Amino acid sequence: MKVLDVKNITIGFKDRFGFTPMVRDLSFSIDKGEVLSIVGESGCGKSITAYSILKLMDPHISEIRGDGLMFGERNLLSATESEMQQIRGKNISMIFQEPMSSLNPVFSIGAQLTDICTLHTGDSKKQAWQYGIELLKRVHIPSAGECMHKYPHELSGGMRQRVLIALALVSPSLEMLIADEPTTALDVTIQAQILNLLDELRKETGLTLLMITHDLGVVATLSDRVMVMYAGRKVEEGSLADILNNPSHPYTQGLLSSLPIKQHERLAENRPMFAIPGNVPSLKAISEACPFSDRCDRVISECKQAFPSEAAISDTHRAWCNVLDEGIKDA
Ligand SMILES: Nc1ncnc2c1ncn2[C@@H]1O[C@H](COP(=O)(O)OP(=O)(O)OP(=O)(O)O)[C@@H](O)[C@H]1O
Ligand SMILES: [Mg+2]
Repeated sequence: MKVLDVKNITIGFKDRFGFTPMVRDLSFSIDKGEVLSIVGESGCGKSITAYSILKLMDPHISEIRGDGLMFGERNLLSATESEMQQIRGKNISMIFQEPMSSLNPVFSIGAQLTDICTLHTGDSKKQAWQYGIELLKRVHIPSAGECMHKYPHELSGGMRQRVLIALALVSPSLEMLIADEPTTALDVTIQAQILNLLDELRKETGLTLLMITHDLGVVATLSDRVMVMYAGRKVEEGSLADILNNPSHPYTQGLLSSLPIKQHERLAENRPMFAIPGNVPSLKAISEACPFSDRCDRVISECKQAFPSEAAISDTHRAWCNVLDEGIKDA
């Protein structure tokens, strides 16, 4: 059963010169209990895609166009702000990209947790305090009762991230969690603990998870399916095994070849480290062509004319590229 079905949306910003699309013609869906990862380079539009699902961007400067943002039976594209306020935090919650600045520095952890608990559960302050302790235990915070009295600056980065996850899990009617780079600011050992925690919560509660990351290591740990974005476009989509074992789009192949383990192999063979030549284009300057065509070593004239149409590699695996048949596993 689909929890979220995003149908052909374009997300852009408005100014006095008009509408500038940043994410174009994006469609994807997530099934109940599934973990979908969106992966792509910095600036490719991952966060604005996540914000758009919850309609968190200022409607005065941004616009979401398209055929639908279906959350179950509801089309969030046409939902009003007060309807969205009912959904945010209650049915869909989000862990934001900057864990250090997402907690309010002037309130204790207990005050922040009980505030959200009373809002979503209707509990009294006393019940909410107990529920807060339960939630902190659930995310493996030691001495949860004491932690409730602490302020964010008294906690380590890993602990703050656990608190943020606890805050995101408050609602008993939570259906989907969006995690925007939840481990980017953490060192690798803490990163592994947080990923284990998300995996455990997902297995325990059947939570549907939309994971946003630029880190293929994170993708490999948690995902069922992976969607690769480049410069505002979806360029490849498949199961985790499809993407890791048979990357088909030249950008995905480049991304995998850039992994530290692959670089290590190259260095051991006295070859220079791999890098995708060139830079990501500015999303403002993007034409109708394949956005990767300027950096692609397999580019053909069609790539410069229009965005490639969908190519099915298997039932689960598709890519948007004109040159898939040549050198697929060759990156
Ligand atoms: N408020 C805004 N006004 C204008 N452009 C914006 C605004 N917010 C984001 N953008 C642009 O939208 C594009 C996508 O940004 P987004 O934050 O979604 O990237 P991202 O993939 O999440 O990158 P990162 O990995 O660095 O977090 C970028 O080109 C960015 O400059
Ligand atoms: Mg981002």
